[in-house]
Amino acid sequence: MPDLFAERRETMAAGAVLLRGFALPRETALLAAIEAVAAEAPFRHMMTPGGYTMSVAMTTCGSVGWVTDRKGYRYSPTDPTTGRPWPPMPICFQSLAAEAAAEAGYRDFQPDSCLINRYEPGTKLSLHQDQDELDMSQPIVSVSLGLPATFLFGGAKRGDPTAKYPLVHGDVAVWGGPSRLTFHGVATLKDGNHPLLGEKRINLTFRRALG
Ligand code: SIN
Ligand code: FE2
Repeated sequence: MPDLFAERRETMAAGAVLLRGFALPRETALLAAIEAVAAEAPFRHMMTPGGYTMSVAMTTCGSVGWVTDRKGYRYSPTDPTTGRPWPPMPICFQSLAAEAAAEAGYRDFQPDSCLINRYEPGTKLSLHQDQDELDMSQPIVSVSLGLPATFLFGGAKRGDPTAKYPLVHGDVAVWGGPSRLTFHGVATLKDGNHPLLGEKRINLTFRRALG
């Protein structure tokens, strides 16, 4: 039988795929869950070790959260803003992450952390590697909601050429295996108004941070 969804999958590199529209059927549950998490752990602009305030606002759910301040990057079991544990990861987040990972060929993905990034027009995320996790055999699952963005996907070295992929509401990117430490980022967000999210883009980045 022909695979009716074949055209919805794009290979970015070995071990790295884009699953177009994968999160769309779950948008309502996802947006409600994001609001609930942000009510407990508000979005904040963190500081890089070099002293720059990040333009992208972030919060987390899960047992640990990625944080940055003058002391460096790390995973923390508590929210430095509130002093409380991060909100638990909603079930609809866990299932989406596991199913997208499986669809990309990574079985039994059980993320313990979901970084929630909020972009407004004019904000961007510079090229970086996700390298603060302990087990590099686990992939990254990244969900796009709201305004479109341009995803930059490079190579193993910062100076490698970067391919550009448009990401729209509902798209899911998964990278792992030989692509796990690929440099990636998001180009400056353009003005726009999304029917559900207004003048913003939300990205969910699922990771297995602890071993
Ligand atoms: C990230 O690399 O943490 C976010 C990627 C994205 O916003 O698409
Ligand atoms: Fe990243």
